[in-house]
Amino acid sequence: MGSMVARKDFNRYMMPVYKPAEFIPLKAKGSIVWDKKNKKYIDFASGIAVTSLGHCHPELNKALADQSKKIWHLSNLLTNEPALRLAKIFCKHTFAEKVFFSNSGAEAVEAAIKTARKYAYININKKKNEIVAFSDAFHGRTMMAIALNGSDRFIEGYGPMPGGIKHHQFNELKNLEKTINKNTAAVVIELVQGEAGIIKAQKAFVQKIKKLCKQHQALIIVDEVQSGAGRTGTLFAYEQFGIKPDIMCCAKGIGGGIPIGAVLTSTKIAECMQLGSHGSTFGGNPLACAVAEKVMTLLTKKTLLNGVKKKEKLFVSGLKEINKEFNCFEEIRSSGLWLGCKLNVKENFNLDTIMKGCYAEGLMILKANNNTIRIAPSLIIEDKLILKGLKILRSVIQGQLRPQ
Ligand SMILES: Cc1ncc(COP(=O)(O)O)c(C=O)c1O
Repeated sequence: MGSMVARKDFNRYMMPVYKPAEFIPLKAKGSIVWDKKNKKYIDFASGIAVTSLGHCHPELNKALADQSKKIWHLSNLLTNEPALRLAKIFCKHTFAEKVFFSNSGAEAVEAAIKTARKYAYININKKKNEIVAFSDAFHGRTMMAIALNGSDRFIEGYGPMPGGIKHHQFNELKNLEKTINKNTAAVVIELVQGEAGIIKAQKAFVQKIKKLCKQHQALIIVDEVQSGAGRTGTLFAYEQFGIKPDIMCCAKGIGGGIPIGAVLTSTKIAECMQLGSHGSTFGGNPLACAVAEKVMTLLTKKTLLNGVKKKEKLFVSGLKEINKEFNCFEEIRSSGLWLGCKLNVKENFNLDTIMKGCYAEGLMILKANNNTIRIAPSLIIEDKLILKGLKILRSVIQGQLRPQ
């Protein structure tokens, strides 16, 4: 057995970029997590939209165990069957014809930007390198990703930033034709902004981006790192927006808890990435791909995706009930099993206190944008756990009410 550690050791040994909750999770099954004191938590967070099929799903456990007895790692000098099988699944179920595997979402975004710039460089002209991104975006934490995010809180102290990035207000049609122009290599967009609080792109906005990109031969990169893998009720969110990405970034839920990212694109675009022009030691790791293959096989089932929409309704109606009682939410937003409840600050509801209260009562939720409760449970969470979790949330919110 390894040496014992406690929560206080976090501050001693870890770089202080995180401030984890006081309890320490020990084990989990489905949508239940147990901490070191054997206290139970209902999981409405799924590790920030990662454990898409819950914790320790038996079929994923089996896929991991089986692969772990075969081969753990292969360099990209060798053909890797689990990666190849996974790529085939992506190509069968999406617009894609070619796949590149990374380890994380931010790396998928990096690879997507490199691909788009290389495409313009080779096929159009060497000066066409601008990337258009949007306000309140979240694309990860690498230098390029924080530059795309654009907000000061991600950037401060890390400059100089990579250049050639332009920002435009999300969902703002005005002047979009000035932002997207002949110099644009690509537009990178989350069709539903997760970290911003589950904000959907408006159809007219997406259509205008599509038109301008076509006019200027710019590529559309859709970042589905959080919105993908069935989260919004379709396998990928783009299916609901009348748009076909040129390049798509995936991660989080496609691995169900195993680190993996992927860049999906067409053959024509992929061809600009010649031998040796990009790579990753661990990208396409056989253990990760064997698990993701099973995740994707299960996620592509119609019944599962229909279940996401049904469970969304259950959540929305429960949240509306809570709101009717306490007027705690300014807005309830949802896109499949991805919900954002913007707190009514006028009524003095505080996000951190609610979150702590939920932990105390045995419920794990998420935050978004410092004013929104974000809910992103497993896509197969049982209805009875949804109702039980909402009951906890209700009582925590009730506990926040000031005596009149
Ligand atoms: C839309 C989006 N893109 C990219 C990322 C970065 O992914 P990762 O943390 O795996 O690098 C995230 C993470 O939250 C995300 O939500």
